[in-house]
Amino acid sequence: MKKIVLSGIRPTGQLHLGNYLGALGNFVKMQQEDNYDSYFFIADLHALTTNPDPEALHHNVRHILAEYIAAGLDPERSTLFVQSDVPEIPQLYLLLNMHVGIGELMRTAAFKDKARKCLGITPASEAENDDEDVAREIIGANSNKRVNAGLLTYPTLMAVDILIQRADFVPVGKDQEQHLELTRRFARRFNSFYKVDYFKEPANFNFGREPVKVPGLDGSGKMGKSEGNCIYLVDDEKTIRKKVMRAVTDAGPTEPGQPMAEPVRNLFTILKLVSTPDVVEHFTQAYNDCSIRYGDLKKAIAEGILAITTPIRQRVADIEANDDYLARVVRQGAERARERAAATLSDVRRIMGIREL
Ligand code: TRP
Repeated sequence: MKKIVLSGIRPTGQLHLGNYLGALGNFVKMQQEDNYDSYFFIADLHALTTNPDPEALHHNVRHILAEYIAAGLDPERSTLFVQSDVPEIPQLYLLLNMHVGIGELMRTAAFKDKARKCLGITPASEAENDDEDVAREIIGANSNKRVNAGLLTYPTLMAVDILIQRADFVPVGKDQEQHLELTRRFARRFNSFYKVDYFKEPANFNFGREPVKVPGLDGSGKMGKSEGNCIYLVDDEKTIRKKVMRAVTDAGPTEPGQPMAEPVRNLFTILKLVSTPDVVEHFTQAYNDCSIRYGDLKKAIAEGILAITTPIRQRVADIEANDDYLARVVRQGAERARERAAATLSDVRRIMGIREL
């Protein structure tokens, strides 16, 4: 029996280097393995949680599908589909929500972040525990701001994406680990409530390495579309070089073996992800003996990034322009994804006591 691999990305904008290094690059590698049966999708229902402009959403779904294919996902080897093409997902989402606690959803880090943004609460500090402030604001009637219920139940929907295909491995970046942990918890809870051994617990998969957190170029935090610190896979060469050369550094080491400041450490993290061990070793030594020139380091980073992004950028426009092809890919993907999903949904309905009279 082949292991089932499944993962998805939210279509909230063009894909960036963080998406590639944290997720898409692994998708491509996993697809090559003969002992995996892989499913990769575009999480458009998840994108709705932030109320995107409808035209922009539609455009992004197409664009990301084209980026998936340009990056090497092959619709003949993997099942590529759009989440909303599988109506069994929203059906199972309703059923699974009956076993999910509002409290545990409210304590999810990603939810708290987004809820704070909706409510305009800035945490006083990283360590500060403002859960109660957030909860009070959400429940209270004083604020005219609202945190939508879809945002709260985001982890239920994500768990359903995974469980409905009964996936073994879910390649995701570090920021999704908590959602994966909740998925496992929901699976265990369902099994134990109904005294069945039905859902298996999915694991993250990163080819034996730690899940990746790709830092941004502005000195702190992770690379993200909203942060304005990122490199898009479709950025042209000049743009990429310019963005990398502008990345934040410091004045340079003055003493041998001096510890690295965060912005510099971040650049080394990116170098490790896009370059070869000998290049990393070279710059690490140069840092340690204070001979490093950040301009050279940045050039090496830019080269590494371009080696990844250039082939993708060169292919994406042609693929995106081919309406018939893209339509065929998602139709075939939906068919395959629905087959497994329908089987799971029907099992779950039966287990939960929803049967024909
Ligand atoms: N939450 C994921 C992200 O923001 C996207 C996602 C939705 C996902 N459903 C999933 C990832 C299922 C893996 C499996 O990146």
